[in-house]
Amino acid sequence: MRTHYCGDLNTDHLGSQVELCGWVHHRRDHGGVIFIDLRDREGVVQVVFDPDTPASFALAERVRPEFVLRVAGRVRPRPDGTVNDALPTGQVEVLGQEVAILNSADTPPFQLDDLNIHEDVRLRHRVIDLRRPPMQANLRLRARVARFLRRFLDERGFLEIETPMLTKATPEGARDYLVPSRTHRGKFFALPQSPQLFKQLLMMSGLDRYYQIVRCFRDEDLRADRQPEFTQLDIETSFLDEGGITGVVEAMVRELFVDCLGVRLPDPFPRLTYAEATGRYGTDRPDLRNPLELVEISDLVRAVEFKVFSGPATSAGGRVAALRAPGGGALTRKQIDDYTAFVAQFGARGLAYIKVNDRAAGREGLQSPILKFLPDDVIEAVLARSGAQTGDVVFFGAGERRVVNDALGALRNRLGNDLGLVEDTWRPVWVTDFPMFEWNTEASRWDPLHHPFTAPATDDPAVLGAAPGECISRAYDMVLNGTELGGGSVRIHTQTMQEAVFRLLDIGPEEAREKFGFLLDALRYGCPPHGGIAFGLDRLVMLMAGASSIRDVIAFPKTQTASCPLTGAPANVTELQLRELGIRLRQPPAAEPAAGGDPGAS
Ligand code: AMO
Ligand code: AMP
Repeated sequence: MRTHYCGDLNTDHLGSQVELCGWVHHRRDHGGVIFIDLRDREGVVQVVFDPDTPASFALAERVRPEFVLRVAGRVRPRPDGTVNDALPTGQVEVLGQEVAILNSADTPPFQLDDLNIHEDVRLRHRVIDLRRPPMQANLRLRARVARFLRRFLDERGFLEIETPMLTKATPEGARDYLVPSRTHRGKFFALPQSPQLFKQLLMMSGLDRYYQIVRCFRDEDLRADRQPEFTQLDIETSFLDEGGITGVVEAMVRELFVDCLGVRLPDPFPRLTYAEATGRYGTDRPDLRNPLELVEISDLVRAVEFKVFSGPATSAGGRVAALRAPGGGALTRKQIDDYTAFVAQFGARGLAYIKVNDRAAGREGLQSPILKFLPDDVIEAVLARSGAQTGDVVFFGAGERRVVNDALGALRNRLGNDLGLVEDTWRPVWVTDFPMFEWNTEASRWDPLHHPFTAPATDDPAVLGAAPGECISRAYDMVLNGTELGGGSVRIHTQTMQEAVFRLLDIGPEEAREKFGFLLDALRYGCPPHGGIAFGLDRLVMLMAGASSIRDVIAFPKTQTASCPLTGAPANVTELQLRELGIRLRQPPAAEPAAGGDPGAS
């Protein structure tokens, strides 16, 4: 139906007869001449109709925004003074000779170039929303990224292999989405939280190198970078250790950035151990664009009278740390109160600070509610270690290590933004040497930090059992600008070690057999050493696109409450369907919003 895309026309086409198909972006009536901006996937071009072609002119007078047209015409230069350099097609216009209205359109619920539309409305009218050029650019980038990744991995001998969606639970730490079985009454499939176990089984099957761009399902609290269904680039290899695996995927990400963005990432990526990352940044996904760092001062304040500091400084799970904010001396009392309320969200019981008005003037040059509790030598040592200078403020966190890290880690991010310290660049980093387990106080048991199939650094189950809390795993995360892009590990490949880890996680032999018998059996029949990684594809594309939410790089995402305003999912089902599945609801379902209806109305 067409010879060109609207957005492709330029001065090379001057004088050509063209046929275009697209949507009416704008229409303007200028004293006897009608201008239509015609839009398709590739962009917008201006089409002009004048009364010399009366039939077309009459039709052009009738069209409204989002009508679908087919236009035939001739490309000509725009008259002097009407060139639009902001538009790729802005040097030319099409003199419309014939026009056909392929379809009319109701007035759209919002204008395509209105950037202040509530996301619920955008999601409900996703078809219109996706017509916006920035959304189209995001989806195109996503397709390009996927194509690059496939090609990179294909060329290196990785096989794309599909794994089941209707399966058994794979523990990745979230709740499962369950699917009732009709043929096995009362039983349920789980949608995969990841293909973790299947990709390991593929290694045991001798397939050597696997990848898959695969949907994963996790019923967890949603955030801007989390969706209940999301896509992983999932990878597994045999006979490679952590160096081999991280080497391949690091090269992949580096080449991807050159290919799609023309950006050179550092070679090699820097590495931080988990202990360094949490010590210096309060988090295992540090944003290295931000120059601020936490400084340990526990050793300096062990003996002070101020119990808020000396308590945590002398207790095993405690930490006292300082965070210098350069130029922060100018912060008002109100701003500091805001920061105090901010860290309280992470459990901090206060936010002590010292303002440095004059670093050379000793105690006299300082301003702080805690000065009176600290001797001169301690104040001096703390300021020296934090690198404080005149005009700065130094914040302090004291308490349980986890709380101090969470609070000061978040404050570090916030101060970096508020003080304009975050560099506009790309800062990838590998985080390694994670602890194997973390203590779950509520449940009184060890939980795996990664997943239960991650290999420990030791080969000896006895060493592992002797001090689980001190054991390091062979896991690694790739972090980019403060977002965890991917995580993986070398896996356990012997039955003895896998059983030992299950035991430590309080998964008894019967439960292990019931849940993971197929894995334990496969481990007995010649399992190669293997390992892998999975990247969050949505997050990767979100960062590359400069989007602020992964919903902007997913065609049909879910809302924050895990529903789809477009289709109205999740939805009620009929009594008959439930009966066939052998299910009776404990409560009658809420009334259902109609598809395309008011989101969140139920
Ligand atoms: P993990 O659980 O770390 O590892 O997930 C890998 C990556 O997937 C992305 N991701 C998400 N993206 C969007 N929404 C979510 N709800 C979500 N959850 C995770 C993150 C994360 O880094 N099987 C292991 C991988 C392995 O060991 O090989 C796994 O799934 O970017
Ligand atoms: P207080 O003696 O409780 O009034 O605390 C004195 C100062 O220490 C105040 O500025 C508090 O904000 C701060 N503070 C109290 N608890 C903590 C804590 N756990 N970590 C950091 N600062 C704290």
